[in-house]
Amino acid sequence: ARKIIVDTDPGQDDAVAILLALASPELDVLGVTAVAGNVPLALTEKNARKICELAGRPEIKVYAGAIRPMVRKLVTAEEVHGKTGLDGPDLPEPQMPLMEAHAVDFLVDTLMAHEAGEITLCTLGPLTNVALALVREPKIAPRIKEIVMMGGGFFEGGNVTPTAEFNIYVDPHAADVVFRSGIPIVMMPLDVTHKALTTEKRVAAIRNLGTRAGIATAEMLEFFERFDEVKYGVDGGPLHDPCVIAYLLEPNLFQGRTCNVSVETGSELTMGMTVIDWWGVTDRPKNALVMRDVNHDGFFALLTERLGRL
Ligand code: BDR
Ligand code: CA
Repeated sequence: ARKIIVDTDPGQDDAVAILLALASPELDVLGVTAVAGNVPLALTEKNARKICELAGRPEIKVYAGAIRPMVRKLVTAEEVHGKTGLDGPDLPEPQMPLMEAHAVDFLVDTLMAHEAGEITLCTLGPLTNVALALVREPKIAPRIKEIVMMGGGFFEGGNVTPTAEFNIYVDPHAADVVFRSGIPIVMMPLDVTHKALTTEKRVAAIRNLGTRAGIATAEMLEFFERFDEVKYGVDGGPLHDPCVIAYLLEPNLFQGRTCNVSVETGSELTMGMTVIDWWGVTDRPKNALVMRDVNHDGFFALLTERLGRL
């Protein structure tokens, strides 16, 4: 199985991504590292443990990482995810322990202990933990097989400011470190994730699995989608983070091209914007495979089938 580490700030869509990973035998989840993002760290690490338990996997190692972004103040998203970050289902307090080590130490130690090219990082939140690990031990960069990330946006624009997507906006300096690292990156921007929408029928299919995980997922999605429904009048919410895991399972569901991505860290107006050279008009290095399209029916078929295994 492919070895992955999931770096995350759950978040309902993060939670669904974690469930999808834990339901998939092709993936070996070496650990889950939590970061401050959608809600503060104390909640994201707890939510990560709740989700591992919901998946019936209390042995998964969960680590707490950065409590705030590298330079800027933490910006959270309770208006989307609720006060707990995981509003919707009534999940019990986790019994499984939080690991003692810091997430950044876990990332460095685990990457150094494995062969080069063995581990893929799946990033579902602000990139603070990954950037700190790269600064702390630059030797990890060539050892990472690839980073598959949810973040950024281009033709679709931003979801926090007109030009910035949440994960990049919260820690643009960390994102800048990651995009300059030379590590192969696969990027799932809003342009893709806003095509993976939870319709009523799709949520019903997940609920009708009839399992604890299926019902809790449907409850999470119903809470999560109300934000876009009320604010933008669309039918359903965007399942951002599960696109990362779905790509590892079925890459052919996605289409994009390799180009340069640079992150704005200077201008307050466009802070956190991912400047994507889609047309190759600069000679900046092509550092990311930027996805633009998803076969959304295939994506939901995969997700529903996998959740049914939990
Ligand atoms: C990203 O921001 C968070 O609110 C979601 O979990 C996702 O990772 C979308 O912009
Ligand atoms: Ca997230």
